[in-house]
Amino acid sequence: MDIHVIFIIFSVVLNTVSSGKHDKYAGYTVHGVHLRDVQDQRVLYELQHKLNLDMWRYGVPGDRPSLVMLSPKQADVVLNELDRYGIKHYLDVADVFWNLAEFDQNLISYRRSRSERLVPFEDYPTHAEVNAYLERVAAQYPEIVTLVTAGKSWESRDIKYLKISTTNFTDSSKPIYFMMAMLHAREWVTTPVTLYSIHRLVENLRNEDRDLLEGTDWIILPMANPDGYEYSISDDRMWRRTRSNRPEISTTCVGVDGNRNFDALYQPSNNPCSLTFPGPHAFSEIETRIVRDILHKYVDRIQVHLDIHSHGNYVLFPWGDGTLTPNAAQLFHVGSVMGAAMDSMKLPSAGFYRVGNSALIL
Ligand SMILES: *[C@@H]1O[C@H](CO)[C@@H](O)[C@H](O)[C@H]1NC(C)=O
Repeated sequence: MDIHVIFIIFSVVLNTVSSGKHDKYAGYTVHGVHLRDVQDQRVLYELQHKLNLDMWRYGVPGDRPSLVMLSPKQADVVLNELDRYGIKHYLDVADVFWNLAEFDQNLISYRRSRSERLVPFEDYPTHAEVNAYLERVAAQYPEIVTLVTAGKSWESRDIKYLKISTTNFTDSSKPIYFMMAMLHAREWVTTPVTLYSIHRLVENLRNEDRDLLEGTDWIILPMANPDGYEYSISDDRMWRRTRSNRPEISTTCVGVDGNRNFDALYQPSNNPCSLTFPGPHAFSEIETRIVRDILHKYVDRIQVHLDIHSHGNYVLFPWGDGTLTPNAAQLFHVGSVMGAAMDSMKLPSAGFYRVGNSALIL
């Protein structure tokens, strides 16, 4: 029995290694950077943009370190530069390749240990599995759930969302809560949050949550960027962008950063290979147009639009240039209540949720 188990684990390691999927991250490292103040933050920001660095986490000066992934070539330049400014740093991940291989292995063992009992929100489901779940819930609860196929992604995957309502969206006095996830492909943990929300609202409604279902209409879009997500499973675990391919713009780099493809504060860029390339123009991507159209259609009633990311423990609100909306005080209040609620359930090792304007916090 023991030998059998060991053999399975060993063959998993071999499969992972020989598949070559993570090869491009061999020798990549992740470094924690202790920011003392806004000056340090600016130094790192400049480096990030000059060298197209992949930030795993934006830090908070004096509170939590930044995490930045570096190729072997970048490491020399960046660490020297940090030293020059007296900015302290430490090695957080010694080899990203092995980090990713270990992640795969853990996921395989987890799935094996759960075998038949795994439901989509306890897993990292494929895009097809997500759609199958949405279809099943809609078919099983037709009186409160409506399935909408919003359109097709660049690679022709159906992008679907659920409308959940005890009044079929006909009561215009009800607020709408629009929840979405997975605009950034590698942020795998975000889709299960939406699926679990659907589960709790529809399949497993608790008495104390009844007001959430009855007093609010819900729009839940679990996977905004299915092409990027599938690519992050099959080819590049760190993929973040869409997969739109425009040879007239670039023959080597595909996709755009969905976050920066909206028309709010859209900033043109002539660097299609940048991790944060905003696209040739605002809403160049069908994936962001689908989000835009939901917002336009229900703008009069949407009270919360929650776009779930997994970059870190933050509740962030607009705008991305540090200016505030007229309801910023209200957003801060709601965000703080959310943050405190999540703090009460977070793992002891995780940081407290930081609440504030996205540009000022990050
Ligand atoms: C909800 O309303 C739509 C029209 O907007 C209609 O097509 C659908 O049949 C209604 N569903 C239920 C359960 O009444």
